Amino acid sequence: MNILVIGSGGREHALVWKLCQSPQVKSIFCAPGNAGIEHLAKCVPLKPTDIKGLLKFAKEEKIDLTVVGSEQPLVEGLVDAFEERGFKIFGPSKAAAQLEGSKVFSKKFMLRHYIPTAKYRSFAAAEINEAKKYINTIEPPLVVKADGLAAGKGVLICKNRQEAVVALNDIVINKAFGSAGNQIVVEEFLTGEEASLLVLTDGERFVTLASAQDHKCILDGDLGKNTGGMGAYAPAPIVTNELLQRVIHEVIHPTLDGMKQEGIPYRGCLYIGLMMTPDGPRVLEYNCRFGDPETQVVVPLIDGDLAEIFLAIAERRLDSSKVKLHSATAVCVVMASHGYPDEYQIGKQIFGLENIKAEDGVMVFHAGTKTEGSAIVTSGGRVLGVTAIGFNNELEQTIHNAYRAVEKITFDGAYYRSDIGKKALKYLHTK
Ligand code: AMP
Ligand code: GLY
Repeated sequence: MNILVIGSGGREHALVWKLCQSPQVKSIFCAPGNAGIEHLAKCVPLKPTDIKGLLKFAKEEKIDLTVVGSEQPLVEGLVDAFEERGFKIFGPSKAAAQLEGSKVFSKKFMLRHYIPTAKYRSFAAAEINEAKKYINTIEPPLVVKADGLAAGKGVLICKNRQEAVVALNDIVINKAFGSAGNQIVVEEFLTGEEASLLVLTDGERFVTLASAQDHKCILDGDLGKNTGGMGAYAPAPIVTNELLQRVIHEVIHPTLDGMKQEGIPYRGCLYIGLMMTPDGPRVLEYNCRFGDPETQVVVPLIDGDLAEIFLAIAERRLDSSKVKLHSATAVCVVMASHGYPDEYQIGKQIFGLENIKAEDGVMVFHAGTKTEGSAIVTSGGRVLGVTAIGFNNELEQTIHNAYRAVEKITFDGAYYRSDIGKKALKYLHTK
């Protein structure tokens, strides 16, 4: 098989790494890739949203299977364009990608199919005054969301009603997120711990991957600003088998059946962001793709041929019995540039990567890196996802291994959280 992976982050590096292990894969390309992916795949300088350019490339290189990493091209209809021309592709159609592309769509969908989620109302921009009245009916804190894609920034948690009014004005009047704010969702604030569940599905059949937990805040103890994700671990002990069965019953089945009933079957990876509330699991959000950095910890735990699994999904013939999970633990610590998620500098040389050995159960998935001469330098806010995989290890040991590897890597201004995975230990220690 000739495979094309679309994207350039740690998620895509982890996907390329796993796909390379498939005996079926003859050559693998990545558009546009990064300095880590370059070692495994031929990187081609095409943007993920350049649908025409990607199609032309797929034709020229006789690509047998395309795998899409990020949401923007999915929401813009990349999968539809490929399938219309007879190319096999892993990912949801434009209509199905609305589960992430429109929060109003996904909230209404959940309501129609009795899928547990936060109580809400949605409004068009012209109904801002209605939205302000609705705010008075919800106990703070409350949550204001822009409808469309906003690079992970469109959700505003408001401590009180005044903050919620400011948030509404920002989204609707100041157009803080552009046209993503043409509609808004106002919803109740849910309490509990979050978990991510990634589901692979061909629209009929599905498998759940290991549960995971992201660490979205920049500082230890989940403090400070929101980021793209500072680390993750899997499996997440908060998702007990009993809770997983509830999520399958109350969320996954109704979601996949509902999409099918509505004539827009969901194929690809469905990311379900959950809040484990005292009243049970509630859906915070759907994403129409693999999570980042969850992929870096969840994909290494798949015991199977990922190229075959993705191809089977593209061909609507997933055999869930062929997807097994290793009984292992994985921990990814993100090393970021000083200043991230605000302004940061790039072009800093990265040292010590040669000290990390896959044989020791550690993989460094690159995110914001590029090659400059013989050096690898930083080129983004999140730079590396240092990932330990412990086949025989308890989570505590795997956390330790990840941090031991982190200490061997340096670049000017490197920053990382020191408590990735710590939240899980309380569940393990009280067992
Ligand atoms: P979303 O893009 O909808 O997942 O929101 C991003 C993040 O905002 C989530 O991962 C949660 O941390 C937080 N969030 C979103 N909705 C709620 C809610 N109703 N209650 C509490 N936190 C929320
Ligand atoms: N880790 C959160 C996301 O991928 O959206």
